[in-house]
Amino acid sequence: MKQSERLGVNQQGHLTIGGCDTVELAAQYGTPLYVMDEDGIRAACRSYRDSIERYYDGRGMVCYASKAFCCKEICRIMDQEQMGLDVVSEGELYTALQAGFPAERICFHGNNKTDHELRYALETGVGLIIVDNEYELVRLNRMAEQMEKTVNIAFRIKPGVDAHTHDFVRTGQIDSKFGVALENGEAMQIIRQALTMKHVVLKGVHCHIGSQIFELEPFELAAQRMIELMAQVKEETGHVIEQLDLGGGFGICYTEEDQALRYDSYMEKVSEVVKDCCHRLGFPQPFVMLEPGRSIVGPSGITLYTAGSIKEIPNIRTYAAVDGGMTDNPRYALYQSVYEAVVANKAAQPKEMTVTLAGKCCESGDLLGEKMLVQKMESGDIVAVLSTGAYNYSMASNYNRICRPAVVMVHDGASRVIVRRESLEDLTRNDL
Ligand code: LLP
Repeated sequence: MKQSERLGVNQQGHLTIGGCDTVELAAQYGTPLYVMDEDGIRAACRSYRDSIERYYDGRGMVCYASKAFCCKEICRIMDQEQMGLDVVSEGELYTALQAGFPAERICFHGNNKTDHELRYALETGVGLIIVDNEYELVRLNRMAEQMEKTVNIAFRIKPGVDAHTHDFVRTGQIDSKFGVALENGEAMQIIRQALTMKHVVLKGVHCHIGSQIFELEPFELAAQRMIELMAQVKEETGHVIEQLDLGGGFGICYTEEDQALRYDSYMEKVSEVVKDCCHRLGFPQPFVMLEPGRSIVGPSGITLYTAGSIKEIPNIRTYAAVDGGMTDNPRYALYQSVYEAVVANKAAQPKEMTVTLAGKCCESGDLLGEKMLVQKMESGDIVAVLSTGAYNYSMASNYNRICRPAVVMVHDGASRVIVRRESLEDLTRNDL
């Protein structure tokens, strides 16, 4: 899905999202403001769910990776959409439980879970813990024993697949802090160890090969390697691993140049590979899990800012500063991620100005983008940065003691606040 499919321009020439005028939203709620389109989020959930129905007879579950954007209302929507939920910290788990999300549909990830987090997961009955390493396995088994419980686990496996993405988010290869490696026997060894333990039940294997991936081949290759591992485990130990979690990582369009695949094409291809491999190796077809994060919420979010000072440095560039920046969207500063921007109150006009969109932090690297083509921008204009629904609010900070913006959900021409704007009191709440 392209973000532009969810946006429009009304008779006033203003950008709209979910049937709401973005200039009015900015006036009503203030800027900076995150705006999320509910129908877009729900449509993304359904397209993944339907793909499991269509291509894999419904024998699977889509777990939303809540790190992309976690708040109570999103968890409630995921519950209504019958999704599972991937959490990676006690904070995400707490948020989900507070929202009434059923613990049994939660998967708990993380490469360095604390004792406190493991205990919390056991106490609250989280459905599956994705164990990263031996240190965690031993502690979890001991803790479950003390609590007189057994716990369903999966192992995070590095399938050795290079997904050709940004170095920071490439995780399937051996040099990664996540999981145990396939090729050096580490995976097989930890599986054998788990099978000797009384308080863990080995339900699944998991891999996640990176993020913002546009090719299908790495997913197919990873699925193949994982099925081969599952078949090897059955052959060598007799234990049948029932679940295969293929992680997330499906790319979205940040700009018109990006060519994202239809979300159902992942399941279409991967289910073929899974079925073929299982057939070839005489292994029963597993329950398949997917963990999309970015592609569920990313294209459905925009951020609205008010333009402030505009500085033209002759023959160099024009800095257009907005009232937010790396505090609400650190992705350009971190990864040089490219975004598109629109002057929301001039959305019908042609784009004819090139700007460096700067934030308001005391830091030169506080940019939202360079060489961005926009409508003729003046101070006071409302600027929309598109496709900011994922890894923006969730990675926001209070650098320079800047308050995090509010998040507004739009649907059918109506809007509601789902996360309040931080206040100055919030900033000093924990100061003594
Ligand atoms: N499952 C696991 C185990 C993950 O580690 C991740 C993302 C996902 C699922 C969801 O991946 P997605 O479908 O969203 O690509 N902060 C970076 C992205 C980091 C992704 C980390 N893991 C960014 O802003 O691009």
